[in-house]
Amino acid sequence: MSTSDVTDNTGTGTPVPPQTPLVGPADAARYDSRFSAQASCTTSSAMRDLMAITEKADIISLAGGLPDTETFPREVFDAITAEIGTDFLASSLQYGPTDGMGELRELIAGIMADEGAVARVDDIMITTGGQQAIDLSIRTFVNRGDTVLAEGPTYPGAVPCLTAYGADVTHIPMDDDGMHVDLLEEAYARLANDGRPPKILYTIPNFQNPTGVTMSLERRQRLVEFAHTVGLLIIEDNPYGMIRFEGEALPTLFELDDGAGWVVYLSTFSKILAPGIRVGWVVAPPQVLRKMNLGKQAADLCSSTLTQRFVTEYLKRNDYREHVARVNSLYRGRRDAMLAALATHFPEPATWTRPRGGLFLWATLPDFIDTTALQARALERQVAFVPGAAAFLDGRGQNAMRLNFSGVPESVITEGISRIGEAVNEFCALHEALNPGRG
Ligand SMILES: Cc1ncc(COP(=O)(O)O)c(C=O)c1O
Repeated sequence: MSTSDVTDNTGTGTPVPPQTPLVGPADAARYDSRFSAQASCTTSSAMRDLMAITEKADIISLAGGLPDTETFPREVFDAITAEIGTDFLASSLQYGPTDGMGELRELIAGIMADEGAVARVDDIMITTGGQQAIDLSIRTFVNRGDTVLAEGPTYPGAVPCLTAYGADVTHIPMDDDGMHVDLLEEAYARLANDGRPPKILYTIPNFQNPTGVTMSLERRQRLVEFAHTVGLLIIEDNPYGMIRFEGEALPTLFELDDGAGWVVYLSTFSKILAPGIRVGWVVAPPQVLRKMNLGKQAADLCSSTLTQRFVTEYLKRNDYREHVARVNSLYRGRRDAMLAALATHFPEPATWTRPRGGLFLWATLPDFIDTTALQARALERQVAFVPGAAAFLDGRGQNAMRLNFSGVPESVITEGISRIGEAVNEFCALHEALNPGRG
């Protein structure tokens, strides 16, 4: 290779060779027979694919679950990073314990206590974001073909985890009060009768991703009672509990379980502080945590000690609740802007949820509209959302969409919804032209 073939675009003085693929398409088949079953059946999260698109182009993204970068605490960040450099350099650049830093685990127990839940510090393990906590939970309990219950729709980012480990997912329908626990009981009985009792339930009771809906207190109580009666292990994922715009906080399933050990609790600092720090946590009984710890050792040895220190120092110096209150007030306005824009720009038969917190709402369109096809039209108009099918493992959700209201300002939300509305109206007009009078 001659020196003229290489360029230095890193600014480091190190030349970068031309970016040709290592293996051309003709040779790619060599890997197919070697991929593991897990790698072969893992699907991409539609969200992640969309993020790649929306990052590149000048697109209004209502697709991601991104906190607004303006909410990141800039001055605090500067102060803490300088201090880490002087006071904690060695420990924050060294490997740390797999369970995570003890000081941070204590602070997390304090956060959970603020929310009304008593967690033992020894039962807490730090994870690399909430996503790793989901992965470790599923990997710890699910064999290929095992039955798993989850809300329908569920978190699109959990879908690749569930498919990778071969979970056979039964979705439980939801309404404005969250998952229908009576239907869960029926599904459980049916599956148990078939000799396939569900191994776990994966649920997001607070401001659920993707619907924004919160499970009522009555359903929470009934669910935990049922779990105790039949011995159903609940994985409760709670990244959004504090992102509340109105109403009173409800007890978590973990709290209602009252130490009985039927709830494994997951959460993260991604939505209350920043996702780039990749710090989440799991609370589980010691027997379960031990297995998860082994899984984490295999996955990444430990979560970043640098960002664990950052969160620790942040929590020690600041009232995180004040920060969360500021975030909530910003997002409340954005939720309102999205609701108003939907009322203006979406045609009559469309419906949508009215979340009292969180980052998302869920819109349902007439069933002749396939939102994956609609997405292509929306992208032509430079706007993105998550098609509903990404939130199901059984092909449902085709006429629904997840819309995020936290990531862009109100005026941009209004513009984005108006563009999606145009695309929806176009579909409706086409349908009417092809099926006159059939609505
Ligand atoms: C329900 C749910 N669980 C887990 C995660 C992942 O969180 P993290 O970014 O901390 O990995 C998300 C992110 O959007 C989420 O919505």
